[in-house]
Amino acid sequence: MSFRHKHILGTEQLSKEDIELILDTADSFKEVNTRDIKKVPTLRGKTVINLFYEASTRTRTSFEIAGKRMSADTINISASASSVVKGETLEDTARNIEAMHPDIIVMRHSASGAPHYLAERLTESSIINAGDGAHEHPSQAMLDLMTIREHKGKIEGLTVAIVGDIAHSRVARSDLYALKTMGATVRLAGPGTMIPPGIEKLGAEVYTDINEAIKDADVIIMLRIQMERQGNTLIPSLREYSQFFGLNPENLKLAKPDAIVMHPGPMNRGVEISSYVADGSQNVILDQVENGVAVRMAMLYLLAGGQETE
Ligand code: CP
Repeated sequence: MSFRHKHILGTEQLSKEDIELILDTADSFKEVNTRDIKKVPTLRGKTVINLFYEASTRTRTSFEIAGKRMSADTINISASASSVVKGETLEDTARNIEAMHPDIIVMRHSASGAPHYLAERLTESSIINAGDGAHEHPSQAMLDLMTIREHKGKIEGLTVAIVGDIAHSRVARSDLYALKTMGATVRLAGPGTMIPPGIEKLGAEVYTDINEAIKDADVIIMLRIQMERQGNTLIPSLREYSQFFGLNPENLKLAKPDAIVMHPGPMNRGVEISSYVADGSQNVILDQVENGVAVRMAMLYLLAGGQETE
């Protein structure tokens, strides 16, 4: 089956077949990452540019590793080291980059819709959204679903609780779309100030009590309080937030005994998640990071095409 999209801008546009194709392709690439020689010629001759206007540890490194392990030429550009600091517009920067004929531009930006803006204006390159403002983060959602499927054997029929600053979370939005498409029940929980009005219309159950949200859940995804996105003005204090919305060994007992605990990172230990839980036996947080490379290899492969893995 071939992938029918030129760009990957969000999970809202992905069908069940699209998601299964990404996850199955990622499964087939995962083994490359544990080989002694971690390189396949699949994307030889392809060029991938990582254009990051916002800080990132996991996503940028993971896209870079994914490209390099598939033999693509991978170039990183950060806003602080580009001509953006001299006043160049996003569109001009992108048009200049496209004039060098990259196959794929992976882009993170603080403005929601920035990758969509580029996708409408560039003619040649495919765009992957690596996180746009509080809108979407599709590669994070795909690695989350890959991790859930690995640990639970399925996604359909599971109950997934996502807890935290839902309003500012591109991860919550991308996970919600993808999990609903795959047939999971999605519960969103957080303080009322962090729940966007009308989110239940997207098919989520909404809670303002973490205990109700995680009761009998199969999967718990904890979100970071985003200080850089007004997170601190929406709650009285971090201490109170931790007390009422943090995941700790006591409230974790409300979930199913075999529930898995996830976090997209970066974690605020002692705020949304206790260190005991973050390092505990139910956490699969580093599995998420590991799967991130395989999922990004799959996304690059499906957009750029290429030879079969050798
Ligand atoms: N999960 C995630 O997007 O992490 P980074 O901000 O480090 O890329």
